[in-house]
Amino acid sequence: MTAAPWKGLILAGGTGSRLYPLTHAVNKHLLPVFDKPMIYYPLTTLMLGGLKDFVVVSTPDSIPQIKALLNSGSNWGINFTYVAQDKPGGIAEGFRVAANELQGHRVALILGDNIFYGDGLSKRIEEATKQTSGATIFGYEVADPTAFGVVELGKDGKAVSLEEKPKHPKSNFAVPGIYFYDPDVLDIAWSLKPSGRGELEITDVNRAYLERGDLNVITIGRGVAWLDGGTHADLFEAGQFIKVVEERTGLKVACPEEIAFRKGFIDRDQFAKLVDSKPTTEYQRYLSRMLSEIK
Ligand code: G1P
Repeated sequence: MTAAPWKGLILAGGTGSRLYPLTHAVNKHLLPVFDKPMIYYPLTTLMLGGLKDFVVVSTPDSIPQIKALLNSGSNWGINFTYVAQDKPGGIAEGFRVAANELQGHRVALILGDNIFYGDGLSKRIEEATKQTSGATIFGYEVADPTAFGVVELGKDGKAVSLEEKPKHPKSNFAVPGIYFYDPDVLDIAWSLKPSGRGELEITDVNRAYLERGDLNVITIGRGVAWLDGGTHADLFEAGQFIKVVEERTGLKVACPEEIAFRKGFIDRDQFAKLVDSKPTTEYQRYLSRMLSEIK
């Protein structure tokens, strides 16, 4: 039996209250992380894993803004569907609101403010996309895990327990906002009850897989940076990080046009047309350079 196709689920809703007043008129996921809108980073993370079909969940007010940026995806050889979430109800509620689009698919969920960068990242994501059943999550060592989902690992590297924002964490492994699930995730999402903070928690989804003995954890080492744009300081630091890397290497992080071409989602002619269609900017000059450099 062939495994169900993958869909990427990008969560780009919420009120962005911690970033007020930046988010008063603009959706958080469209704010700049140095030279690109924030949502380009999680999107390209999944594109690097080979995903081409995406559902973007956001608030009714924000969907037109996000659509204006991403359109149908056809110029990048990918596809976007947009689904409105009327009220924020937790990460796992994303499965419920997008249930019609996700039915019969494996789902790669990524939070629209999570930024990943580093060598070996694509390989780990490709590894996660090879899974045909169960769930794969990641573990990333952080100094203070209390603000995250936390996974405790046994000697064999398997998950022993999962907790959401524990006051007394059992390990330093935070669970980043990127998760890979088999099609059962929809049933699990429908069976959840809201947590103490009134949200459908992604940690409860992961715990359901752990209880079935079907949860795989891949630890990501210090060669990968995991950042988010949750607060003003986080956003500023993420932008600085991208600036330093891009200026040093002369290469852009999270450039969807480049990644679409490198991954073969679009051919050379389509890429050349894209380059021509851009306004003459530093971004366009970069794409034009990629057109001549990528063989
Ligand atoms: C959410 C999840 C948490 C996860 C984190 C990653 O937290 O609930 O398990 O570790 O994203 O960014 P939130 O950002 O909603 O506080």
